[in-house]
Amino acid sequence: MVKNAGCRPTKISGLATYVPPRLLTNKDLERLVNTSDEWILQRTGIRERHIVDPGVATSDLAKEAALGAIAQAGLTPKDIDFIVVGTTTPDMMFPSTACLVQNKIGAHGAWGFDLGAACSGFTYALTTAAHMVGAGTHRHALAIGADVMSSIIDYTDRSTCVLFGDGAGAVVVSPATDNCGIIDFAHEVDGGGGLALCMPAGGSLRPASHETVDQRLHYVKQDGQTVFKFAVKKTEEICARVMERNNVTGSDIDLFVSHQANRRIIMSAAERLGLPEEKVVINIEKYGNTTAGTIPLALADAVADGRLKKGNLVLLASVGAGFTVGSVLLRWSI
Ligand code: ACO
Repeated sequence: MVKNAGCRPTKISGLATYVPPRLLTNKDLERLVNTSDEWILQRTGIRERHIVDPGVATSDLAKEAALGAIAQAGLTPKDIDFIVVGTTTPDMMFPSTACLVQNKIGAHGAWGFDLGAACSGFTYALTTAAHMVGAGTHRHALAIGADVMSSIIDYTDRSTCVLFGDGAGAVVVSPATDNCGIIDFAHEVDGGGGLALCMPAGGSLRPASHETVDQRLHYVKQDGQTVFKFAVKKTEEICARVMERNNVTGSDIDLFVSHQANRRIIMSAAERLGLPEEKVVINIEKYGNTTAGTIPLALADAVADGRLKKGNLVLLASVGAGFTVGSVLLRWSI
C-alpha cells in the first residue's frame, strides 16, 4: 500500500535523463594524469563518463531531462507547480538553477529552489517534491538531480578526476491513483564529515581571489578512504532502517538503485542488506559519478533494459558530501 508522504499518496509519473554527447574515457585520462584504465576500472568500476562542451551548464542538462519527464507524464510545463533542483554545480551562485530551468522550460506557473545535498541531491529532491504534492498544495512537481561536475574537477588530480562525470535526471511527482508510488523515506545529515569532501573556496568563507585560484581551491577535495567507509556503513544503515519499519527484507526488494560513486561501495552495501547482484543496478561504467544525476540515470537504464517495471518494489539510497544520507522506498509507477 502506498503511504502518504504528506496528506495524500504520491508517485513518480514521468522520468527522463540527459547526458552531454562528449565522452571522456579512461584512456583519455591516462593522457592527462598518471593513471591507468585498469586501476580506474578495478578500484571504481568506471570506464567512461560524459563531459559538457564549454558554455553548457547544469540548467541546460536539467532542461532536457525535465522536458522529457513532463512529456512522459502526459503533461505540459504549465502543469508543473513546483521545481526543486538538487545540484552542487549551479550555473551561478545565484539565481538558482531552479529559476533558470523554470524559464527555459516555460513552466510559468511554477516556483522552486535549489537544494544542496551533493550526491544525495536526487533522494532529497524526490522527498521534497513528494511532500509538496502530498500536502495537496501542488498538483505536479519536478524533482531534478543535475550536475556538471567537470566544472569543479581538477584534471591534474588523479585521485578525484577519474571519478566524476556530467549528467541530469528528472522525475515528475504527481498524486498516486493506485497502489504504486512513494512508500517511505529516511534522511540524515552528519555535518561532522563536512571537510572530508568539499570545494574549499568560492563561498563566503574563502571568496575567490588570486590566492584561492593559485592554490587550486575551487576544485573538489576529498579524503577518499573516509568517504568510502562512511558511504558503505551509512548506505546499509539507512536502507536497513527503511526496510525494517516497512517489514521488507532483501527478498521483497525487486531493484536496489543506489547512488553510483564506486562499484565497490554499492556491492558492499548490497551484500550486507542481503541483496543479490541481479537486484542491483550498476551503470557507473558508462557515466562515472554524476553526483545528483546518478539515481535517475540508473532508474532510466533499468527501465530501458526491461529490469524495472510497474509494480516493482524499488529501494533508492544515497550518501554524499555533508555528509548527507538518504533512502526512498517506492513501488514503481510508470
Ligand atoms: N590512478 C592510479 N593510482 C591512483 C589513483 C588513480 N587515479 N588515485 C589514487 N591512486 C593511488 C594512490 O596515490 C595510492 O597510492 P600509494 O599507495 O602509492 O599511496 C593508491 O592508489 C591507493 O589509494 P587509495 O586512496 O587507498 O585507493 P582506494 O582503493 O581507497 O580508492 C577511491 C580511491 C577510488 C577514491 C576510493 O577511496 C573511493 O571511491 N572513495 C569514495 C570517494 C567518492 O566516491 N567520492 C565521491 C563523492 S562522495 C559519494 O558519492 C559517496
